[in-house]
Amino acid sequence: MAATDIARQVGEGCRTVPLAGHVGFDSLPDQLVNKSVTQGFCFNILCVGETGLGKSTLMDTLFNTKFEGEPATHTQPGVQLRSNTYDLQESNVGLKLTIVSTVGFGDQINKEDSYKPIVEFIDAQFEAYLQEELKIRRVLHAYHDSRIHVCLYFIAPTGHSLKSLDLVTMKKLDSKVNIIPIIAKSDAISKSELTKFKIKITSELVSNGVQIYQFPTDDESVAEINGTMNAHLPFAVIGSTEELKIGNKMMKARQYPWGTVQACFHYPLPCHAVENEAHCDFVKLREMLIRVNMEDLREQTHSRHYELYRRCKLEEMGFKDTDPDSKPFSLQETYEAKRNEFLGELQKKEEEMRQMFVQRVKEKEAELKEAEKELHEKFDRLKKLHQDEKKKLEDKKKSLDDEVNAFKQRKTAAELLQSQGSQAGGSQTLKRDKEKKNNPWLCTE
Ligand code: GTP
Ligand code: MG
Repeated sequence: MAATDIARQVGEGCRTVPLAGHVGFDSLPDQLVNKSVTQGFCFNILCVGETGLGKSTLMDTLFNTKFEGEPATHTQPGVQLRSNTYDLQESNVGLKLTIVSTVGFGDQINKEDSYKPIVEFIDAQFEAYLQEELKIRRVLHAYHDSRIHVCLYFIAPTGHSLKSLDLVTMKKLDSKVNIIPIIAKSDAISKSELTKFKIKITSELVSNGVQIYQFPTDDESVAEINGTMNAHLPFAVIGSTEELKIGNKMMKARQYPWGTVQACFHYPLPCHAVENEAHCDFVKLREMLIRVNMEDLREQTHSRHYELYRRCKLEEMGFKDTDPDSKPFSLQETYEAKRNEFLGELQKKEEEMRQMFVQRVKEKEAELKEAEKELHEKFDRLKKLHQDEKKKLEDKKKSLDDEVNAFKQRKTAAELLQSQGSQAGGSQTLKRDKEKKNNPWLCTE
């Protein structure tokens, strides 16, 4: 039976029955709170903004502490992300806070790819969570969830408009993370300019279709404050870790040649006016980010941004909820369909490879046969050549033998003639010697 059918049956058969007395399951919310408090919470903030815009200072001011961190140089070849995790404790509530900050953002001549390392970082945290979820043995309760819950986007206090780098980056991030835009170092801008600047930023975000995080208004208890705060976005903030005595109170403040301004106020007014909360966007930010909407940011990250990532990733892997006829399709069915599809493809590939192998063998065989034929022909040619050569040599040898024999015969004849000749010559010499003896004056020459 499909899961939806079972759910329908359970729903249809559900009746409301009164309880005769106290059972005790009304303590469930308390149990939940206790469990959560014991487990502790985690919250991950991503600060995106140009070098030196006051990211670290604002984090220190927000959490009223001094986090580690060296200022970045302006000579970074590319954008990087620096992540630090801290264990914080307030009353009995533990918070594992991760602050991720961009390093070298906006410092390159070509800023085209500046958003990429940020997007990759956010996706890598989603991927790590998805991998943990897909494990057979999951330990999600002990898993350090590093998914980014909020991105504080620091806008330079130019008073003009958003830079294209800001628009491109926010557009690339808005489907992946809750973006809260803030105007950094807003003490650099006058009150009237700031109002115009906020309007300009908001209209640019709207016209470019950039979705920023909206504080939720569906919960009655916070609907009013969240609704009011949504109208104040982007928050204009000032950060400072310096404690100054203002009146008889020690406060975080910035000191200027002309006086001081309390860290949470956006323009330098005398101290008593600084106490005016209507102008304090830092307080608004802290209130909205930490005190009212931290859980909603965590929840939105899981139910909206992570869900989108997970869906795309699973669809990429071939999983779907419905079949081609829009009928529900269980994970098991998807898996089996995918497996069959994979096996089919594997078989097809195997067959293709086999065919290719046979074809290659045939081709090789034909090549070898051709080569063998050529070799035979060459051998025959060489054999014939050899035979011709041999025959020629034999003929030559024969003629030479004949010549030698003829020569030998002539030689023998010549020797015979010579020996006969020498015998005849010898008797004539003896006769001449005798004549010379008898007549010494006879000339023999
Ligand atoms: P990198 O990490 O190097 O990118 O810088 P960052 O964005 O973390 O800036 P950081 O907090 O180090 O501040 C840079 C300088 O700006 C410091 O000298 C701060 O004192 C100063 N600064 C921070 N916040 C403000 C502010 O709200 N107003 C003014 N006027 N100066 C500020
Ligand atoms: Mg810093």
